[in-house]
Amino acid sequence: MSSTRQIIIVGPPGSGKGTQADLISRELGIPHISTGNIFREAIHKDSELGATARSFVEKGELVPDHIVTALVLERIKEDDCRKGFILDGYPRNLDQALDLDRNLEISDGPLDLVLNMVVERGELVRRLTGRRVCRKCGAVYHIVFKPALVAGRCDLCGGELYQRSDDQSETVNKRLDVFEKQTGPVIGHYRRRGLVRDIDGSCSRDEVFQAIRKVLNNLK
Ligand code: AP5
Ligand code: MG
Repeated sequence: MSSTRQIIIVGPPGSGKGTQADLISRELGIPHISTGNIFREAIHKDSELGATARSFVEKGELVPDHIVTALVLERIKEDDCRKGFILDGYPRNLDQALDLDRNLEISDGPLDLVLNMVVERGELVRRLTGRRVCRKCGAVYHIVFKPALVAGRCDLCGGELYQRSDDQSETVNKRLDVFEKQTGPVIGHYRRRGLVRDIDGSCSRDEVFQAIRKVLNNLK
């Protein structure tokens, strides 16, 4: 395996991108960069970025490209990305993909892999409406599929579990529509370049990770 890994994980809301990206990050020792997590943290802190992003995130719409792209291109220049990174939630439309491609061409070298998480819509809605997140450490739970040991409290740090503001059913449907329209073409773009590996994301968390591990082991 080459020592640098530049990976994208793409898929609809609730397909398990964050769950699997955490596992991949640990397995390969590369940072998990989630644009959604960056925005949620900024909103929580009420920073300037948070104030701009809030209305888009809460409505399930995309934050303007120039904001997200500047943020990601800065982040992947940081020291901890020297061995690579896994991008979760970026790029999310064709313009973002083209900006990332251009940037990688002139600096860090090309992408190695795009993992495309495939899960049917009914299951996505179940996962999103039942998701709970730790306010303190960001760990992700599900009221049925991955319940906390003590209701409402994080197993890892005891922090309070909350429901994301964009996980209400109306916003969930909006996000799924935005994904199909805007992010579908990104998958086509990378598929034409031979970078995409489809992953059946509907099995258990561990089964999905085993399938991803096989793909990672086969990377040159
Ligand atoms: P973001 O945070 O990226 O949200 P998303 O893409 O909608 O994806 P989610 O985080 O909801 O789902 P996930 O695939 O990570 O699933 P998870 O692992 O948590 O973006 C949020 C917002 O930020 C956007 O709407 C937009 O406004 C803005 N934004 C972000 N990036 C942007 C960009 N590039 N451009 C513009 N705007 C941007 O799993 C879901 C649930 O299922 C959990 O409860 C989990 O425990 C459970 N689960 C996971 N795997 C399994 C399994 N195998 N079996 C059973 N349950 C499972
Ligand atoms: Mg996520």
